[in-house]
Amino acid sequence: MSGAGRWAPLILCLLQAAPGSPHLAPPLNVTLLSQNFSVYLTWLPGLGSLQNVTYFVSYQGSFTPRRWQKVEKCAGTRALVCSLMCLKKQDLYNKFKGRVQAVSGSARSPKVQSKYFDYLSEVEPAPPILVVTQMEKILGVNPTYQLPPCMPPLDLKYEVEFWKEGTGNKTLFPATPHGQPVYIPLQLTTSGRHCLRARTVYTFISPKYSDFSKSSCLVLEVPGLFWIQTSFGNLSAQ
Ligand SMILES: *[C@@H]1O[C@H](CO)[C@@H](O)[C@H](O)[C@H]1NC(C)=O
Ligand SMILES: *[C@@H]1O[C@H](CO)[C@@H](O)[C@H](O)[C@H]1NC(C)=O
Ligand SMILES: *[C@@H]1O[C@H](CO)[C@@H](O)[C@H](O)[C@H]1NC(C)=O
Ligand SMILES: *[C@@H]1O[C@H](CO)[C@@H](O)[C@H](O)[C@H]1NC(C)=O
Ligand SMILES: *[C@@H]1O[C@H](CO)[C@@H](O)[C@H](O)[C@H]1NC(C)=O
Repeated sequence: MSGAGRWAPLILCLLQAAPGSPHLAPPLNVTLLSQNFSVYLTWLPGLGSLQNVTYFVSYQGSFTPRRWQKVEKCAGTRALVCSLMCLKKQDLYNKFKGRVQAVSGSARSPKVQSKYFDYLSEVEPAPPILVVTQMEKILGVNPTYQLPPCMPPLDLKYEVEFWKEGTGNKTLFPATPHGQPVYIPLQLTTSGRHCLRARTVYTFISPKYSDFSKSSCLVLEVPGLFWIQTSFGNLSAQ
């Protein structure tokens, strides 16, 4: 075995103790990930990291390499995550990457970069929130979304599933463009507790599906009843 291995701990100690340039362990697993139409930079504390560590985040677009923009919201954060969505001068049509540095007192860690993230191909859609209204013998299902205000227009559709509780037979309605309602005809035989849920289909080059929303259930008995959504996400008669 070479001598380098044996000397490494001592060299590390000297580096850490060197006056004027104290070092901190670099943050680990610096990753850009998408959730709910947004993008987050996440990381883990460096090995043997001190208690009182804060983090500073910046990002860079592939169009302006070497120009790092500070993310003011996350300057001095103690969290291990920073939203990189809807930032000043951000261009979501081009790839970008993030970088994070740990700071404790006058000690600084090296800056660690993530890989590049391509919003249009890597964004993860969230399921819609369904608003359900009954009109005579039809259920009208309207999707709503809470989208980031800076989100570019995306090709979003949604698919509704409808079924009678306790049966394994779910009816999947065809993908419908975001903004248009889905109408479910109710037959005279449609009675008992029924449930609905939906997922988003985002198509860029190939379709990408969100998880399904939580099921909303309602009791169908007499046509013409008026339904409200309870705080538990159930639908009940008034
Ligand atoms: C951090 O990254 C390393 C190497 O990429 C991986 O082995 C490890 O599982 C990751 N840790 C966590 C908590 O994600
Ligand atoms: C933690 O950091 C803050 C700000 O840098 C400093 O004021 C405080 O004294 C530190 N606390 C400890 C326990 O080091
Ligand atoms: C999803 O993002 C929107 C805005 O971007 C936000 O209002 C909403 O609370 C988020 N939902 C979840 C479940 O995080
Ligand atoms: C499943 O549901 C569809 C539409 O509600 C119905 O036409 C079909 O007969 C059902 N199949 C079974 C096996 O219950
Ligand atoms: C909502 O539905 C769930 C599952 O069927 C049930 O356990 C719960 O009691 C319902 N809540 C209300 C407020 O009706």
